[in-house]
Amino acid sequence: MTFRTIIEPFRIHSVAPLRMTTPAQRREAVIAAGYNLFGLHSDDVMIDLLTDSGTGAMSRDQWAAIQHGDESYAGSPSFEIFRNAVQELFPFKHVIPTHQGRAAEKIIFTAIGGAGKVIPSNTHFDTTRANIEYTGAGAVDLVIAQGRDPASEHPFKGNMDIAALDACLREHAGHVPAVFVTITNNSGGGQPVSLENLRQTSALCKQHGVPLFLDACRFAENAWFIREREPGQHDREVADIVREMARLADGMTMSAKKDPMGNIGGWLALNDDELAEQCRTLLILTEGFPTYGGLAGRDLEALAQGLKEVVDHDYLRYRIRSTDYLGQALLKSGVPVMRPIGGHAVYLDARSLLGHIPPLQYPGQALAVALYEAGGVRGCEIGTVMFGRHPDGSETAAAMDLVRLAIPRRTYTQSHIDYVIEVCQQVAADAHHLRGYRIVSEPRQLRHFTARFAPL
Ligand code: F0G
Repeated sequence: MTFRTIIEPFRIHSVAPLRMTTPAQRREAVIAAGYNLFGLHSDDVMIDLLTDSGTGAMSRDQWAAIQHGDESYAGSPSFEIFRNAVQELFPFKHVIPTHQGRAAEKIIFTAIGGAGKVIPSNTHFDTTRANIEYTGAGAVDLVIAQGRDPASEHPFKGNMDIAALDACLREHAGHVPAVFVTITNNSGGGQPVSLENLRQTSALCKQHGVPLFLDACRFAENAWFIREREPGQHDREVADIVREMARLADGMTMSAKKDPMGNIGGWLALNDDELAEQCRTLLILTEGFPTYGGLAGRDLEALAQGLKEVVDHDYLRYRIRSTDYLGQALLKSGVPVMRPIGGHAVYLDARSLLGHIPPLQYPGQALAVALYEAGGVRGCEIGTVMFGRHPDGSETAAAMDLVRLAIPRRTYTQSHIDYVIEVCQQVAADAHHLRGYRIVSEPRQLRHFTARFAPL
């Protein structure tokens, strides 16, 4: 017997209140925030889909693990428990804990970046790109062409364009210190990378003598997609697929605020002894001693437990199908959505929905603000606001103008999501009334976090 309804594979054990707000209250809040949703107080948000990063619910067993935390400065057993859990999935020789993903990025790019270097990826995440550019190096995105087309149904739209990577490695021979692959490809729509593509990328990197690193935040979701979509993978354990992905690489950066189910945490892992020593020295400068990095012993324990839970098939089936539930409902009601539906988020195609707003008037921003005002739903612009400003000061349209509705892990129920669907439908029906924005003030880098806007 099979049933259609996907049930959450958990019971709710502890709850936090949502504050109900009115459209008038939200309008006032968003004006005060300069129309930047990062500037809102989160208790003015009803359904917070800004990010799936650090916003998930921890399990009973993770909270219990927290009580095991050993807070010794050096040699904490909590570090060993953490390292063993990481190496069980990612058998890299050195595991260096950091307070979150970008701290791992800062360390590795300080070690390998610098002016004249080029670091290709399928698509760099914003902090990854910014950390590379901060060292003077160039960040290059080489995702396959289908990965830039919101309507393409390619099953692995996060794949690296192998020919383009080959050309890049030839053109910049001697100046590419590493190749990165982001799994799943967050900035490209949460789309997975196939095992086959990872194998080809790995072989090409070996041929050019360049190390391959995974930006592995959503590794379990990527592995689940491989299991579901890639020929010959359907009978495998997700943990086993993850280990194979890791073995194809020489190292990884990780934000443990995503698939490892933490509220904080990250790590850098790698095989190269010399580079690891250099990174540990940098770690001590900015994060902490190598057996805790930027974390408390209790955080390391919670992450070790989270790593066990995230590769559970019942969890992943629920996770991917419930994101799909939101995406399919929007597609059915004619709201343009990036396809196929990603793992951690549904990406609304604002450029297509708001065809009357040119990219440099930020259609993604307009849509994100409208969703907030209408229903208290906070999403995140991933488009020209986030990626349009370049290190030389110029501004161009990003490849796509999307609004990401990221689903925190184990946090919202199906009725919350049904409400989000209604809010999106209502805003989409009135989309032709929405207007663009101009930027009133912005910082030099990472402007999307703090820029202030005014409606046109
Ligand atoms: N890499 C990817 C692919 C990410 O999605 C993120 C964070 C990071 C690196 C940086 O990790 O936040 O722990 O420092 N993404 C979050 C998001 C913020 O909302 O997608 P961090």
